[in-house]
Amino acid sequence: MSPGGHAASAQTGISAKDQAGFVGVASNPAGATTSYKKVPRVWSQPCACLQLQKVENRSGVDREIKLTERGQQVAELIALGLSNRDIARRLFLSERTVEWHVEQVLNRLGFSSRTEIAAWIGRTQSGTPVRSPGRKGKGNIPAPLTSFVGRERDLTMVRDLVAANRLVTIVGPGGTGKTRLALRLAEELEPSYRDGAWLCDLAPVADPALVGDAVAQALGLSQETPDRMAAAREYLRERSALLVVDNCEHLLGGAADMSLELLGACRDLRVLATSLAPLGVLGEAVWQLQPLPQGDAVRLFVERVHAAAPGVQLDDTTQVAVNTICDRLDGLPLALELAAPRLRQLSVKELADAVPDSTTTSPGDRHGSLDALAAWGYRTLDDSERKLFRQLGVFAGWFEQDDATSVAGDGAGVEMLLNSLVEKSMVTAGRTSQGRPRYRLLEMLRAFARRRLDEAGESQETRLAHAERMVWLAERLGLNTAGSEVWVWPKVEGMVDDIRAALRTLLELLDGGHVAMVLERDRATWRRRPLEPDGARGLRRHLFGTLLGIARARGIASSPGASGRDDVLVSGGDKPGRITRMRRDAW
Ligand SMILES: Nc1ncnc2c1ncn2[C@@H]1O[C@H](COP(=O)(O)OP(=O)(O)O)[C@@H](O)[C@H]1O
Ligand SMILES: [Mg+2]
Repeated sequence: MSPGGHAASAQTGISAKDQAGFVGVASNPAGATTSYKKVPRVWSQPCACLQLQKVENRSGVDREIKLTERGQQVAELIALGLSNRDIARRLFLSERTVEWHVEQVLNRLGFSSRTEIAAWIGRTQSGTPVRSPGRKGKGNIPAPLTSFVGRERDLTMVRDLVAANRLVTIVGPGGTGKTRLALRLAEELEPSYRDGAWLCDLAPVADPALVGDAVAQALGLSQETPDRMAAAREYLRERSALLVVDNCEHLLGGAADMSLELLGACRDLRVLATSLAPLGVLGEAVWQLQPLPQGDAVRLFVERVHAAAPGVQLDDTTQVAVNTICDRLDGLPLALELAAPRLRQLSVKELADAVPDSTTTSPGDRHGSLDALAAWGYRTLDDSERKLFRQLGVFAGWFEQDDATSVAGDGAGVEMLLNSLVEKSMVTAGRTSQGRPRYRLLEMLRAFARRRLDEAGESQETRLAHAERMVWLAERLGLNTAGSEVWVWPKVEGMVDDIRAALRTLLELLDGGHVAMVLERDRATWRRRPLEPDGARGLRRHLFGTLLGIARARGIASSPGASGRDDVLVSGGDKPGRITRMRRDAW
C-alpha cells in the first residue's frame, strides 16, 4: 500500500493549517469520541478530530492508605490483571482466602471494583515494585547523538496533531527521518506529560503476540509479570504519558490492537507511532513525512561530512557535486548519512559520480535510492567483509566483537573486518555502559544483509550459530554470580531481543521438544545456584514468557489454564509423541 497515494483525497478537520503532509484522521461514523476501533484501510477517510476528555489529576489523594502485606500483594496482582484463581496459585493460597483478601482490600480502600484497586495501585506505586529497580526519571527517550536539521514545518504540524489526536502515526519510506522526528518531538513534549515520554521500538519484535511484551519492557516493568500487555495497560491507566511506538510496519495488526487496548483504558495516554503504513485504527491521525528539501539535505550532508571526514574541504568548487549527491540520494537523511563518510576515501566529485542515480535505477520508488546505496556500499566491500556483513544481519540489536566472532564461524580477523565495515558506514559503532565497543546494523542495512544472507544460502547455519551463542550466554547467567561471569549480566540484559530471536530460531529450525530440552538444561544449571540475584529469576521468567508466546503462536503449546496447572506443554513439532512439561514455577 502506498500511503502517499491517499494523501490528496484526505479532508481534515484541521483546516487552518497547511496540510500537505497530513493524510487524515480516520473518522468515527457513530460520532463517538473516545472509542478506538480497528478499521482496515479507513485512515484515508475524512477526519473527525477527536474531542479529548481530560481526567482530573487524582494522584496524591490516597497516598496515606496502607494495606497489610498480604493485602498489598493481592492488590498488586489484581493490578496486573490476574484472576483470584491465578492469584491463589501465585501466592500458594486457596481461592477462598484470596477472595477474603480482595474483600478486605476493597473495604479498606472504600472501593467497589477490581478496576479501582488496579488504578489505585497505578497511582500509589510510581515505579515500585512493578517496575524494575534502577530506572529513574520520566521516560526513556534517548538523547540524540547527532545534530537535528530542518523539519520546522513537520514539527509544527505533528505537534498540533498530537495535541488534537490521541493516536498519531508518522508514515514515510525507510530512512526519511520518521524516528528522528518522533524522538525530537517526544523530547520537546516530555515535560507536558506528568509521567514522561517513552519509546518502544518494535523493530526487533517478530511476533504480533509479543507487542505487549515490548511495551512492558520499554516501560521498564518487571519481567515476572505473566500478562505483560495487561501490566503495561495497568501501569499506564492513570498516568499521563506519551508513548512513541517506533517501526510498526511489520506488525500493523499487533500495533493497532495494542494502541486500541492502551488508548481505550488509559485516558491520559497519547501514542505517536512511526510506520511505513498507517495502523488502520479509527481516530488515527496520519502525517506523511517527505524527504528533506534540497537546502536542508545539503545542510545535513555538509554537517555529517564535517563530523565523519573532518579534513574534507567543502566550498564553492564542490557545491555542484554536493548538490548532485543530495539530489541523487533523494534528500533521504539516511542515505545522506551513509554517503558522507565515503569522503574519507573519495573526492566529492568522485562520490557524486559513484552515487547510484535512483531516478535511473528505480524511478519513483524512494526505497530505490536506499537500496541502491546499500547495494553500492556492499559492492565496494571485499569478499570477507561482505560475508561478515551479511552474517551480522542475524543480530537483532547491539552486539560485541566476541558475539560477532561466534557467529562468523572461522572468526579470523573479525576485529579488523568490523573496523573496516564501520569505516565504510555499513556497521554502526557505539559503546556499552561499561565502555566496551559494541556494534549494530541500521535497520535498513540489517534487512539488506538478511536478504543477502538468504541469497547466499547461509541463513540457516548463521541463525543457528547465533542461537547457540545466545543460549551459551544465557547459560553463563547461572554459572557464577560473583567473579568472572558477572560481565554477562548487563550484556544479556542488553541482548534480550537477540535471545528472543534465538528462541524463535530454535523453534523454527528445530522443534518444540528440543527447545524445551535446551531450556530444561538451562533451568537445571540455574537452579544449582541458590544465591542468584533477583534479576536472574526475572530474566528466566521473561524468557519463559517469550518462549510461551512463540510456542502458542505456533500452536505447539497449550494454554496454561488448559492443563489445570500453571504449566506449559510443548510438543515436539516433528516428534508428535513427545511432550515436555515445563513448569512455570520452576522458572
Ligand atoms: N531532520 C534530521 N536532522 C538530522 N538527522 C536526521 C534528520 N532526519 C533523519 N536524520 C537521520 O537520518 C537517519 C535516518 O533517520 P530515521 O529517523 O532513522 O529514518 P526512518 O525512521 O524514517 O527510517 C538517522 O540517522 C537520523 O538521525
Ligand atoms: Mg525509523
